[in-house]
Amino acid sequence: MIVAPLRLEHIGEVRRLMELGAPYLHARTLSDYWLYATLFSSTCPLAIDDDGTVIGAVMAFRSQDDPADVYVQDVITHPRHRRRGVTRALLQSVRSQARSWGCQRLYLTSEPDNETAHAAWESLGFVNVAGDHHINGVSVVTDFKGPGRSRAVYESPLS
Ligand SMILES: CC(C)(COP(=O)(O)OP(=O)(O)OC[C@H]1O[C@@H](n2cnc3c(N)ncnc32)[C@H](O)[C@@H]1OP(=O)(O)O)[C@@H](O)C(=O)NCCC(=O)NCCS
Repeated sequence: MIVAPLRLEHIGEVRRLMELGAPYLHARTLSDYWLYATLFSSTCPLAIDDDGTVIGAVMAFRSQDDPADVYVQDVITHPRHRRRGVTRALLQSVRSQARSWGCQRLYLTSEPDNETAHAAWESLGFVNVAGDHHINGVSVVTDFKGPGRSRAVYESPLS
C-alpha cells in the first residue's frame, strides 16, 4: 500500500468508495472531488493497494479562517481492508503536512452513535471535546453543524 495525494484520475473511484461509508458518510459530488484534487490534494491522501485500487481516503482542509486548524471532513477505509492501519497511515500523512505548515490542531466530527469511529479517533490520538450532553458515553455538542445536526467533536493537538 502507498499513500498518495488525491488526483483527478481517482475522483470517480473515490466517490464509489465513499458510497460504501453509509450511513455515516455520504459521497459528495464529482465537482467537490475535483475541487479537493485541484486545490487541496496535499491534505486529501489516498491509500492505494499494490494492484492500484483505492482502499482508503481522507479529505481534510486547512482552515482559511483559522490557519492553525486542519479539519478532517471524511474518512473511509474499504470494508475489506479495515483494521489494518489504513486510516492510521492516512491521518499520519495529514498530520505531517499540517505540522509542516505550523498548524496546531487537527479536528473532526462524527455522528454520536458511530461507535467504530469513536474507537478509531480515540485510538489515533484524538480527544473527544467536552460538549453539552452525552450519548452512550460520547460527549456531544448540540447543533454543532446547525439546527438538528449535533455532533461528537474530536481534536488532536499537533505540537
Ligand atoms: C472508522 C474507519 C475509518 C476506521 O478505518 P480503519 O482503516 O479500519 O482504521 P485503522 O485500521 O487505522 O484503525 C486504527 C485503530 O482504531 C481502532 N479501531 C478501528 N476500527 C475499530 C473497530 N471496528 N472497533 C474497535 N476499534 C477500532 C483500533 O484501535 C485501531 O487500531 P488496532 O487495529 O491496532 O487496534 C472505518 O471503520 C470506516 O471506514 N468506517 C465507515 C465510514 C465512517 O464511519 N467514517 C468515519 C465517519 S467520518
